[in-house]
Amino acid sequence: MKTKFMFLACFFCVSLSLMAGDKQTIRIGTEAVDLIYQVAGNGRLYQSYLGRKLHHEADMAHLSLGKEAYPTHGMEDYFEPAIHVVHHDGNPSAVLKYQSHTRQSLSPDVEEVVITLQDDQYPVSVKLHYVAYRKENVIKTYTEISHQEKKAVELHKYASAMLHMNRSKYFLTEFSGDWANEVGIKSQPLEFGKKIIDTKLGTRANMFCSPFFQLSLDNQAEEEAGEVLVGSLGWTGNFRFVFEVDNQNGLRIIPGINPYASTYRLNPNEVFVTPEFYFTYSFDGMGQASRNLHDWARNHQVKDGNGGRMTLLNNWEATGFNFNEDKLVKLMDDAAGLGVDMFLLDDGWFANKYPRSSDHQGLGDWDETADKLPNGISHLTRAAKEKGIKFGLWIEPEMVNPKSELYEKHKDWVIHLPNRDEYYFRNQMVLDLSNPKVQDYVFGIVDGLMTRYPDIAFFKWDCNSPITNIYSPYLKDKQSHLYIDYVRGLYRVLERINAKYPALPMMLCSGGGGRSDYEALKYFTEFWPSDNTDPIERLFIQWGFSQVFPAKTLCAHVTGWNRKASVKFRTEVAMMGKLGFDINMAELNEKEAAYCRDAVKNYNCLKPVILDGDMHRLVSPYSGNHTSTMYVDKQQNRAVVFAFDIYPRYSENIRPVRLHGLDADKMYRVKEINLMPGSGSNLSGNGQVFSGEYLQNVGLNLFTGRQLNSRVIELTAE
Ligand code: DGJ
Repeated sequence: MKTKFMFLACFFCVSLSLMAGDKQTIRIGTEAVDLIYQVAGNGRLYQSYLGRKLHHEADMAHLSLGKEAYPTHGMEDYFEPAIHVVHHDGNPSAVLKYQSHTRQSLSPDVEEVVITLQDDQYPVSVKLHYVAYRKENVIKTYTEISHQEKKAVELHKYASAMLHMNRSKYFLTEFSGDWANEVGIKSQPLEFGKKIIDTKLGTRANMFCSPFFQLSLDNQAEEEAGEVLVGSLGWTGNFRFVFEVDNQNGLRIIPGINPYASTYRLNPNEVFVTPEFYFTYSFDGMGQASRNLHDWARNHQVKDGNGGRMTLLNNWEATGFNFNEDKLVKLMDDAAGLGVDMFLLDDGWFANKYPRSSDHQGLGDWDETADKLPNGISHLTRAAKEKGIKFGLWIEPEMVNPKSELYEKHKDWVIHLPNRDEYYFRNQMVLDLSNPKVQDYVFGIVDGLMTRYPDIAFFKWDCNSPITNIYSPYLKDKQSHLYIDYVRGLYRVLERINAKYPALPMMLCSGGGGRSDYEALKYFTEFWPSDNTDPIERLFIQWGFSQVFPAKTLCAHVTGWNRKASVKFRTEVAMMGKLGFDINMAELNEKEAAYCRDAVKNYNCLKPVILDGDMHRLVSPYSGNHTSTMYVDKQQNRAVVFAFDIYPRYSENIRPVRLHGLDADKMYRVKEINLMPGSGSNLSGNGQVFSGEYLQNVGLNLFTGRQLNSRVIELTAE
């Protein structure tokens, strides 16, 4: 959808809403799911239903009211509220009554419903937004809070939405871990009381936990079976999900900004817009939920979601900070020889007074280091052009090293406590993006580079520190706005970049998956899931992120981590995402180099399948010693299966793997590809033709008893 609406028809819909008995009913529906609200006799709004689509209008009359849609603090509700507002006169309560609603088609398959609620004693209004993506079965929700009181009101809680469930059991899956150990999948039943998933890291906010979850209903859902709601918050900062089971075993799900240290003073007529919460609901397990989100992300959310992605060679693992012009030009030869689309120059190219020769200095001074790059970036973009590849550049524009000219000149732009010793994370501090001057400066880094070097084709935007020493010299007496205004300031910068450079691809990186959310991905084409590129760890990390994000957003590089795994194994893990190399090509022998060139060609051929097709996770790395995932193009004519043996056990009973997502009636030729030069395939059935029915019911013997073995198998309909 992005900003251009193909089709816009807005109309008031109060008259079109259904009257079920004496209750007004508002339905938000996709192809498979209904979310239904009703206005009760007391004028308040209730969530009456969330679940499988109800096809018979007459049944609306049978729905009971359910729970209040957006409960407030201070009245009769005994559990966690969605909103807590303290009015200008100190009254801490709110009673929200239905005022009106609108319904608007944003395109033939996307509809927005906005329900306006109004406090019955104070001029405070709350607009609940719901955007239903019919085909993808995704609903996006967010809330706008505003008022016309005489003075500012205080917002203590401000949820993006609230969803109520009423089921026998709930199983929550969270994605947590640490740097280099991102998105570990952990599930637990929810019993009476609260479970909170939140972060207060500010910038690289998702270092320990990710802003998404899976909630299985009644039974723990499986890959291809069970009811599951998958939700994700679009906020590149402190987020919070509260799951609270009440005395009747009802569950409320409350997604939003983490209100930790973030009381917000809202002036009259100012609108507080919460982040967007996106959720899908699957009746066929986690796999279908992932495919819903992947389709929605590509079609409606991610920058250039349906566009191509560039393969690349990055110099970070090969050189670290230790490079010069000649070394880089030599690496560009390697990139061109390998057949990738782009060379990406990482950290270490800038600063002169304190050259960026390590991570201790230079951040903030964005001029090329003269003795490293005497001929500047333009020499590099020219060299790349001559070799027929694109040039990309690393930046970390929100940060500053205390050892930098920027810090010396503009201490007032740095988030720091005026009267305390400074604490550094990776020897650096965070710039105060709540300050419009800092926003201009950060925008100016990208704009300045693009103006001077228009051939830069890509940015890797890094962010290696959480917010420490939390105090904004700019916000003065509004310090509790900093976590929120920082993120809003970041979005202002990113919006300006998107507006001026709409076709510029950018990678979101935060020392790994420290930033990975769907609001950021409106501005970024892809993200860096982890600094950990050990292929075994990546099998788990990519499995985790794939629950919510499509392959084309997951950067996956072949590196020197875990040399016990062959180059073939490492490459095949990376081919399940957006493929890149970050390896010293001189370390590879001729066979390995030839294999890599062939793999890049195969990947280019398979891009429409891997990046734009349907992903089916077949065997989880969490379940044992093997794992497999396959991708099928939308026409079900081509598919590719990746299979990995990690640490098979002695005399293990290895069974065939049943494939998914194929057309049962089509005939597919099976071909193992990506073979090492000189070796043949020992896959049984290689070269033969099978029906989709056979492959899905009998399966293929994908796995072996060999440690760290991998296979890529292409299926082509005949
Ligand atoms: C952290 C990133 O995750 C790495 O890929 C690399 O770009 C370094 N920063 C550079 O400092």
